[in-house]
Amino acid sequence: MLSEIKKNFKRLFFKKEISPNIDIVEEHYLKYDKSNIYRTNTIQNIPRRKYRIGGKKSYAEWAHVIGIFQSLIYLNLTKKENNKILDIGCGTGLLAMSSQNYVNDKGYYLGLDVVKENIDFCNTHYRNPNLKFMHFAVNNAMYSAQQQVKRKKWNVESGSFDMVTALSVWTHFNEEDAIFYLKEVERVLKNGGKAIITFFRLDDVYYDSLKIRKDEKGKFHNTKQNIWIFDKNAYNSENWLYPSHLKVPENAIGITEKGIEILLKTSGLKLVNYYAGNWKEISGLYFQDVLIFEK
Ligand SMILES: C[S@@+](CC[C@H](N)C(=O)[O-])C[C@H]1O[C@@H](n2cnc3c(N)ncnc32)[C@H](O)[C@@H]1O
Repeated sequence: MLSEIKKNFKRLFFKKEISPNIDIVEEHYLKYDKSNIYRTNTIQNIPRRKYRIGGKKSYAEWAHVIGIFQSLIYLNLTKKENNKILDIGCGTGLLAMSSQNYVNDKGYYLGLDVVKENIDFCNTHYRNPNLKFMHFAVNNAMYSAQQQVKRKKWNVESGSFDMVTALSVWTHFNEEDAIFYLKEVERVLKNGGKAIITFFRLDDVYYDSLKIRKDEKGKFHNTKQNIWIFDKNAYNSENWLYPSHLKVPENAIGITEKGIEILLKTSGLKLVNYYAGNWKEISGLYFQDVLIFEK
């Protein structure tokens, strides 16, 4: 196996084909790497590069993020087995992997996404029958502009989920979507159930960071510091803002503290924990801010 990888790599490197043929190298590398995973079964299904979406491309970064959210899910579940977990904006299934060990035989994970190709991929890639994926045919200006229905309730029973998760999804919602879907989170959670949702929270720590931001890579992340400046109102909303260098607001939307208050008031959820993200140029838990809500 190793000699095959070396042979392929040399051929590609010397012919300067490494970039277009990265998929061939990766195919061998992933086979080799996955046969060396010993302490977990969670990351065995990390997909090929083409399907690693959601702003995270590297195989190692997927493993890193799956692990962070597996820990958060574990710590925020009351019972550790047979849970029902609803994942909004599941993409190509990153959080399905973080969730799989806590749903077991009697529970299930359900991922919803507006992009049908993501759901089709998940339904063929993940073989565990307790991981389910469904297309949610509504509009999002960034991901599904061709879908006409503006927004609608999720087709799931009220009070039926132990947990709702959404990684990098409320960061693509305008004010109306953010409010509407957080009310949905409240509706579908069991009493005492938790929601783990990431945001760009525009609080004092963020506003302080504006004074020190430079046109270079972040202190704790590898994107440019200055691309995360939320300086334009999204569709005239006072509290939902996006970086003015982006064409479509839903590409990245941040929420002021007043906006968070509105979300709490309109949904009736409690904010019970908060992990600031390193996008604010501080040493956070993850890149985006993670907010934990409770019903
Ligand atoms: C940045 S990606 C994150 C994907 C995944 N959670 C991850 O971290 O790999 C955002 C996802 O949200 C989905 N999305 C956008 N609006 C949505 C909506 N209203 N309902 C469900 N999914 C939505 C997009 O199709 C996209 O897959």
